[in-house]
Amino acid sequence: MSFHETSVEKLSINPFTLINKGWMLLTAGNEKAHNTMTASWGSLGELWGSYVSTIHIRPQRYTLEFIEKQDFYSVCFFEEEYRNALTVCGKVSGRDCDKDKEAGLTPLFDQAAPYYAEAKLVFICRKLYKQDMREECFLDRRILDKHYSAGDLHRTFIGEIVKVLEKD
Ligand SMILES: Cc1cc2nc3c(=O)[nH]c(=O)nc-3n(C[C@H](O)[C@H](O)[C@H](O)COP(=O)(O)O)c2cc1C
Repeated sequence: MSFHETSVEKLSINPFTLINKGWMLLTAGNEKAHNTMTASWGSLGELWGSYVSTIHIRPQRYTLEFIEKQDFYSVCFFEEEYRNALTVCGKVSGRDCDKDKEAGLTPLFDQAAPYYAEAKLVFICRKLYKQDMREECFLDRRILDKHYSAGDLHRTFIGEIVKVLEKD
């Protein structure tokens, strides 16, 4: 259950299916307090000369408070056998329970951000940019009706991938 450090160039992943079908955990905090949530919207790529992750978090998520407070967050990907754990992390809130315990996941603490021992691939990301989505910026208004009828537009974060950990 140990990891080795690698680089994004050495990975042979499909970022589309990895995120959309595999889902990911977004985690921030420290040894005193942290929180994680499941996400399936986001991207991996390049911006401003850095390899980056882009994530989108609705304002009501408890995890947002941790990502706001910290300079770093982690993005963790898992094998299919952890689907149930990711379903739990995408359903219950860390405000109401010990989510790690409910999901049966083991947090590990990198200096920058917590991540999970059960993950197959981990990106540690340094926050570079954040921006709230704005109604007037939607060029296809149907997206607003379909995804934002409650008015809870996502806050987007772009983070430089500063460390890549792969399961041995
Ligand atoms: C498959 C899946 C994908 C999700 N993707 C996102 C996402 O990209 N952004 C978001 O804000 N919430 C997303 N959620 C919802 C959060 O994971 C969920 O509300 C979670 O309980 C929030 O936990 P928290 O309050 O402890 O942060 C997703 C949930 C699931 C099941």
